[in-house]
Amino acid sequence: MSTLFNLSGKKAIITGSSRGIGKATAIRLAEHGAKVVITSRKIDACEEVASEINSTYGSDTAIALACNISDKEQLAKLHKDSVAWCGEIDILVCNAAINPYFGPSLNIPDSAFEKIMRSNVQSNFWLTNMVIPSMIKSKDGSIIIISSIAGLHGSSLLGAYAISKAADSQLARNISVEHGPNGVRANCISPGLIKTDFARALWENESILKSQTNKSALKRIGMPDEIAGAVVFLASQAGSFTTGQNIVIDGGEGETA
Ligand SMILES: NC(=O)c1ccc[n+]([C@@H]2O[C@H](COP(=O)([O-])OP(=O)(O)OC[C@H]3O[C@@H](n4cnc5c(N)ncnc54)[C@H](OP(=O)(O)O)[C@@H]3O)[C@@H](O)[C@H]2O)c1
Repeated sequence: MSTLFNLSGKKAIITGSSRGIGKATAIRLAEHGAKVVITSRKIDACEEVASEINSTYGSDTAIALACNISDKEQLAKLHKDSVAWCGEIDILVCNAAINPYFGPSLNIPDSAFEKIMRSNVQSNFWLTNMVIPSMIKSKDGSIIIISSIAGLHGSSLLGAYAISKAADSQLARNISVEHGPNGVRANCISPGLIKTDFARALWENESILKSQTNKSALKRIGMPDEIAGAVVFLASQAGSFTTGQNIVIDGGEGETA
């Protein structure tokens, strides 16, 4: 395949790829030729995704590795085992995130705030720092962090999560400036409402779904695959001049009056 989107020979880690946006992303990266590391806390679910990919795109396209992103040692092991399997990483998709608290920021327990920051920001900081040295050596690398439109506006109910997602876009900008001269690119994607387990409480309730989707130009919820295409773009030659950006994919939520 000799297109702008060709990823053959590339190796990717996608955190949180056992389902949702991460799974769709891993499948599309594999479809475009990359080797993919499927990872989340539950190895069984990762193995299912890896075997689905291997049976479609060829054995040894995917491997399953368990890792809780909030644990630095587990991240280091994920990186080490990934490199042992496929060689140095060219594409890192920091996709996994958590939101254990929904409500006014006045009431959030310190433990919930710290958990959100550790899993959604510090874990990405750790993992990006693990892959960047080899990207610098090869003068090529693409880091993609899945942020959220929650990080673009004030929020009365998702405060800490929104802060973590805003921090993720700053992390991508920092990496782009610090390592751009060495060929490393870093970008965020900020999805709007996407039909995954993560947002189930929002789309399973008809009236919440309607009020959410009414805000968007397309008047519908997004699907995981509608985020995966942008990841392929950012990971590939097609995105070679794109760095430090936060690409909003929300069905046009900001476009309606
Ligand atoms: N869905 C939306 O509407 C929406 C909107 C904006 C942004 N986002 C962002 O999109 C990203 C993906 O979310 P999604 O909607 O695809 O969610 P999802 O379907 O619930 O998938 C989340 C994935 O992350 C993994 N995960 C969760 N906590 C983890 C941890 N501590 N360590 C390692 N893996 C962990 C999960 O597997 P295990 O549970 O097995 O570990 C799963 O593979 C997140 O960053 C989220 O903030 C989603």
